[in-house]
Amino acid sequence: MIEHVLPAAVAGAETTADVDPSTSDFPELGALEPRTRRPRLAEFATGRSCARAALRALGAPAGPVGRGPHREPRWPPGIVGSITHCPGYRAAAVARACRVRAVGIDAEPHRPLSPRMFARITSAAERRELAALPATRVHVDRIVFSAKESVYKAWFPMTGSDLGFTDVHLSLDPIRRRFVVELPAPFAPVRGRYAVDRGRIVTAVAVPADGLR
Ligand SMILES: CC(C)(COP(=O)(O)OP(=O)(O)OC[C@H]1O[C@@H](n2cnc3c(N)ncnc32)[C@H](O)[C@@H]1OP(=O)(O)O)[C@@H](O)C(=O)NCCC(=O)NCCS
Repeated sequence: MIEHVLPAAVAGAETTADVDPSTSDFPELGALEPRTRRPRLAEFATGRSCARAALRALGAPAGPVGRGPHREPRWPPGIVGSITHCPGYRAAAVARACRVRAVGIDAEPHRPLSPRMFARITSAAERRELAALPATRVHVDRIVFSAKESVYKAWFPMTGSDLGFTDVHLSLDPIRRRFVVELPAPFAPVRGRYAVDRGRIVTAVAVPADGLR
């Protein structure tokens, strides 16, 4: 799925099977809190395994990917990227910083959001626009949530600051499975794509290296 949502300058890797976190292959596990439970260790290690596979696909050295104080991945110099996991699925995407300023990816189960959550993550203007879209069989509300999570994962490493769900404006094109998100200045609107398959949604955004207004 990840290949379908990434632009050409971004390399991705994904898996539906977890690696064994008790091997010595993942020194990054030391960044997790003591007594972290095994399912989370496996999820984290598998995200890192995808990160290395994506780095190899990009032609970059596939070393450890650390973890910053805000849980953000720490990529090797000259690389930007993003990691996601949801039940039964893990993925990573990376690009060279000279071509792409930031990448964000997110995976979600393809299920509706609660009306309360949908109201919390969208503005009235977005809800009006989404309600006017042609009817589709996909859960647009969850796609919007995932797209905004992807935006956050690109935004935070780029700015070091928070971004609320209603600080942006998302427009969805369900025919082309694309979306555009207007960001606070000085950033130009960021473009993204989504895919829905096997009960999952995957979204991705890439901010071009010259992605300022
Ligand atoms: C950071 C956040 C988006 C991660 O969401 P999540 O549901 O845990 O998503 P996923 O499981 O798909 O992804 C987790 C991965 O995101 C990455 N991540 C976590 N915090 C991050 C950050 N601050 N910046 C960039 N990437 C981050 C990590 O790689 C993490 O995996 P790891 O801990 O195994 O390395 C979410 O926790 C959050 O804080 N959301 C609120 C902010 C937001 O989305 N605003 C919308 C703005 S439009």
